Amino acid sequence: MSIAVSQKGDVFLLSTQSTSYAFGIDDQGLVRHLYWGQKMDCVEDFEIPVLGEVSSNDPVPEITPEEFPVYGGLRYKEHCLKVAFADGTREIVYGYEGYEVAATDTAEELVIRLKDTHYDFLMELHYKLYPAYDLMERSVVVKNHTGEPIQVEKIHSGQFHIPYEGLNFSNVHGHWGAEQQRFVQKVSYGKIVIENRRGISSHNHNPYFILDRDATETSGEVYFGALRMSGNFSGVIEQTPYGETLAQLGLNSHDFALELKPGEAFEAPSILCGYSATGFETMSHNLHRFAREHLLREGLRPVLYNSWEATEFAVSSQEQIKLARKAKELGAELFVLDDGWFGQRHGIDNGLGDWYVNESKFPHGLEELVGEVKALDMLFGLWVEPEMVNPKSQLYQDHPDWIYHFETRTSDTSRGQYVLNMAKEEVQTFVYDMLDHLLTRYDIDYIKWDANRPISQTCPQRDIWVKHIRAVYDIVTRLKQKHPHVLFEACASGGGRIDYGILGIFDDFWTSDNTDAYDRLTIQDSYSYIYPIKAMRAWVTDCPNFLSRRVIPLTFRYHSAMMGTLGIGCNILKFTSEEVELSQKMIAQYKEIRPIVQEGDFYRLDNPSANSYFLYQYLKGDQGLIFAFLPQSQMGHWGTTIRLRGLQADARYTLHTPDGDVTKSGHYLMHHGLPLRLTGDYASTILSFTKEA
Ligand code: GLA
Repeated sequence: MSIAVSQKGDVFLLSTQSTSYAFGIDDQGLVRHLYWGQKMDCVEDFEIPVLGEVSSNDPVPEITPEEFPVYGGLRYKEHCLKVAFADGTREIVYGYEGYEVAATDTAEELVIRLKDTHYDFLMELHYKLYPAYDLMERSVVVKNHTGEPIQVEKIHSGQFHIPYEGLNFSNVHGHWGAEQQRFVQKVSYGKIVIENRRGISSHNHNPYFILDRDATETSGEVYFGALRMSGNFSGVIEQTPYGETLAQLGLNSHDFALELKPGEAFEAPSILCGYSATGFETMSHNLHRFAREHLLREGLRPVLYNSWEATEFAVSSQEQIKLARKAKELGAELFVLDDGWFGQRHGIDNGLGDWYVNESKFPHGLEELVGEVKALDMLFGLWVEPEMVNPKSQLYQDHPDWIYHFETRTSDTSRGQYVLNMAKEEVQTFVYDMLDHLLTRYDIDYIKWDANRPISQTCPQRDIWVKHIRAVYDIVTRLKQKHPHVLFEACASGGGRIDYGILGIFDDFWTSDNTDAYDRLTIQDSYSYIYPIKAMRAWVTDCPNFLSRRVIPLTFRYHSAMMGTLGIGCNILKFTSEEVELSQKMIAQYKEIRPIVQEGDFYRLDNPSANSYFLYQYLKGDQGLIFAFLPQSQMGHWGTTIRLRGLQADARYTLHTPDGDVTKSGHYLMHHGLPLRLTGDYASTILSFTKEA
């Protein structure tokens, strides 16, 4: 059993394979945090301090490390829940009602029941444990039994307490074309806030926190949490005056209010969290394994070809067929027709919403292209942007009231489009039916679901921030029930919707519109801290790159994209015979190493050289890979040393290098390492190794 309860029934010790988390109910009925860290054996060891007023300016609720601080009383700290009752009371005073434990095959769950002392208002704190992954999932459910409506003004799924000051906080910053730029900053007194107010997730920050005590990849304590929700979030990190650091994650209360009608319940987005005593690598491995084995659909992801960068909106059946044939010749397994195939879609300003096949571009219907792709024994994928509409479209003419708007205001367009109010039932029905129709009529295996602008001018309801994205989740979940073989890719102008809310409902992330192979190394490195390689789509595209104008050798471009789920986005009709040959070789190699890349453990290796090598390792069972990149050589420093990780010390491994095989012990490879020297600019290599029987 991973959940231990003290004999008195007042302390709960939650344990995974190597971590523990403890809290208790104190003499005042507050749910008090007690411990988060390395594994503990004995629940009876924990004592609950009885706090008296230290000073009138440091009241008891303020200095008590609460699991779920509510708004009310002498609490001035960051709270997780604020509601307004029908009579205008905005304070919650809760009492402890009891607990339940439930177990499934993979998880055990503890539910703590709390109830307001005056109102029939219930709060349930859920702690779900995944012992094999050293992960816990926290969420909160609120229930209104008062018989009158309640306004929820803020709801975060829990507070975390880390008993240290001076921690390092890391997350990502960025913008379109530059997502996932990792940053680290020292936590000091005051608050750090990361958030998103755009509705469509964002390219700016990502809904997670990582707090570490000067950790490295392989050493040091790391505390982390990732929100299972796309769209508006806020995360608050605070070093308090009381010798600890707090972390919260949840729905952003910016412009948010949710009415809980009598009898209604609301489950706030959960937080997937964990602790590592052995650095960032353990954190990444635990999250990646959980995502691979628990959230993502089984099976290897196909090598795709996508025609967007080759043709943009100027698609035609004949040219797409030519591209599909060429893609097949190169070795691609999935052909994706991107934007431009529907309605009067000739650019960003028209057609969105009119999801019927454009007859002048596809005079024989989509069947011709789909038939050709299937005859080539390839899978077929289609781009859609279902939450959006152009003013110049039949859909908008028919339903101008379906977009987010205030009656007295003009809604802004962005990329020439409006956002549909997905909280409306008729809009949900339209989107579901439209996609169900496409998936039923055409033999489609893959949907690239895009969302290219943020939400604005919402509507009078302030709960759309959560209703919108839950409608998207619900539609895709229902579509997958009916069309279970279809894979869904989450795209929002590139990587604007990468989070643990959408992962699992969707199967793939479009990591970034930035397909520059050098920029991608940084994006992919940062991405890998939290998100699994199996969902990281990466394309090889033409040079000069449309964003960076950089020209990078095709081999380096392939190697960079082969770090994730490989795609090709070049205008392959213009390929020279050398480029065709190289592509065939690379794609064939990718197919061989794909199980290790997509389903192995991923290591961000140290680079001890003064040159800026990027070194990565993948390991799956007895087989491993090393990816090495040298974007630019600098004077006098050519070589580096690759120290592998995660090997069996006393086993022998054979490394296949261009100069022949090298066999060494795991111990040697991990501690002494092997020299590697790349020369020139944009040099790269992939080496494989195998454990000897
Ligand atoms: C977004 C996506 C691109 C492409 C275009 C099509 O920008 O990120 O990959 O699909 O839309 O308009």
